[in-house]
Amino acid sequence: MVSAVAAHFLLFLVSVNLIPIAAELQAADGGAGAALGKSRKRVFPVPRTEEPNPISEAYSYCNTPNRTEQAWEGHSPVDYKLLSVQVMIRHGDRYPLYYIPKTKRPAIDCTLSTSRKPSHPLLNAFIRHMGQGARGHWESPLGSVPRLPNHSACEMGELTQTGVVQHLRNGQLLHRAYKRHKLLPADWSPRQVWLETTGKSRTLQSGLAFLYGLLPDFDWARVTARHQWSTLFCGAACDCPARNRHLEEEQRRQYRLRVSDTELERTYADMARTLGLLTRQLRAANPIDSLLCHLCHGIAFPCVPGGGGGGGGGCLTMAQFAVIRRQQLDDEADRRRAGLYRKYAVLAMYPYLNRTAGKMERVAKDNEAGRQPRGEEVFSLSSAHDVTVAPLLSALGLEGARFPRFAARVVFELWKSPPGTRGPAAAAVAPPKKRAKARDGELFIRVLYNGEDVTFHTDFCRAHDRHARWPLCPLKNFLSFVRRDMFAVVNATSYQEACYRRPG
Ligand SMILES: *[C@@H]1O[C@H](CO)[C@@H](O)[C@H](O)[C@H]1NC(C)=O
Ligand SMILES: *[C@@H]1O[C@H](CO)[C@@H](O)[C@H](O)[C@H]1NC(C)=O
Ligand SMILES: *[C@@H]1O[C@H](CO)[C@@H](O)[C@H](O)[C@H]1NC(C)=O
Ligand SMILES: *[C@@H]1O[C@H](CO)[C@@H](O)[C@H](O)[C@H]1NC(C)=O
Repeated sequence: MVSAVAAHFLLFLVSVNLIPIAAELQAADGGAGAALGKSRKRVFPVPRTEEPNPISEAYSYCNTPNRTEQAWEGHSPVDYKLLSVQVMIRHGDRYPLYYIPKTKRPAIDCTLSTSRKPSHPLLNAFIRHMGQGARGHWESPLGSVPRLPNHSACEMGELTQTGVVQHLRNGQLLHRAYKRHKLLPADWSPRQVWLETTGKSRTLQSGLAFLYGLLPDFDWARVTARHQWSTLFCGAACDCPARNRHLEEEQRRQYRLRVSDTELERTYADMARTLGLLTRQLRAANPIDSLLCHLCHGIAFPCVPGGGGGGGGGCLTMAQFAVIRRQQLDDEADRRRAGLYRKYAVLAMYPYLNRTAGKMERVAKDNEAGRQPRGEEVFSLSSAHDVTVAPLLSALGLEGARFPRFAARVVFELWKSPPGTRGPAAAAVAPPKKRAKARDGELFIRVLYNGEDVTFHTDFCRAHDRHARWPLCPLKNFLSFVRRDMFAVVNATSYQEACYRRPG
């Protein structure tokens, strides 16, 4: 028995050590891989030693689907069983939400066609499959939301073909990662495919593209699409007065930082002069949103003729764009320092995290009792927005993570070690009686952001010494974090207390 335990422990070490080796192999096999190697280092610059370049940051925000990607989902010590996968995504590339007055809108075609780049081998089959979508179960009002983007001139906020391809690829990556774990076996008949989404077409369509990549030709009769009316995915637990107070404080911080940035103010004034607008008109048009779309689609920045409208005429420039992006990066750094956003984020994301924790606990209980788990506990997909994913990262303590790019993904995995194989450290720590009883495996959680394992950067496992004890993060760390510990940043021990306490 002792040697079996020791052998198991060795396999932990091997599989954990394999990770950086595999990443290096990837980096060595060509230009795209090398670029990936660099961007991997930038994900968690703790401490941030050099200022990130605002232009290259903007390109990584675009997430152009033109390179091989590494995904660390589905990696575990051998013989571990994967019990549950909970995914939250940000929608893919979209048309701007704002329009810069007096300029021409970027010309982008939002119909889907394999003759346009970027394309994907599954694209035509995906389009055909969406044609049968009426057979799915759609919670109102999702049944009337178009299941494909289909305007030859994109509408505001519409998902583009790039956005569809990004999520077909995400789904396909996870299909490959989980195939050998048989999370969703071919005969998954009693199970449901669980999708929850806001009522925007870009989130619904992103979720469907992701599902299609994960389960090509899925059976529509098994799809249940739930509507989340709030971008916080807080279901019936959205009411929390203190959350809005924290958000207002954060917004005041953001405002103070912005108006103290003289270079930014000068840049807005220059841009407004070029276009013949008032500075406040330009600011209200949130030009960075539109300029990012130009950049991501390789379209030149807008120009206007001089004379007539009182403007000087000319084009918006990359230098101006870089100043706005630089200020956004400064804002992210200042936000981390101030800690106000974190307080908002904890209250904003508790309902989602509480649901996730509950599903994991139930799937583990069902597994132990030999019961068939419910579909949403095995796999669910939440198709969301930047204003969902950003507070999720912050609430988990992933403050160093970059702002969610298009088609960003956060994955929670629940793993169980083989029965009767408690690790040597756990055996030493557990009281003898408990040790004798515990024949069932132990439960572990992994958290991944854009394919990167960030478990040990989260608040609930940062202090966990993976070399001295278990090389994975115990599920109980996550459960006590969600149910109590995360409220420490708002000096409380529960959601109720934190939400309804009078301001001091
Ligand atoms: C991918 O696209 C981006 C943005 O258009 C570009 O900067 C980058 O060089 C491309 N990478 C490859 C490997 O083609
Ligand atoms: C897109 O719209 C066109 C014109 O309204 C229609 O003929 C076509 O069937 C639509 N395509 C899809 C895939 O919905
Ligand atoms: C948290 O989850 C539990 C079930 O796991 C549920 O009973 C409880 O109502 C949830 N609390 C909130 C505030 O969402
Ligand atoms: C935290 O809460 C406790 C009990 O509600 C209170 O006595 C204490 O003053 C609070 N601390 C801070 C720093 O707000």
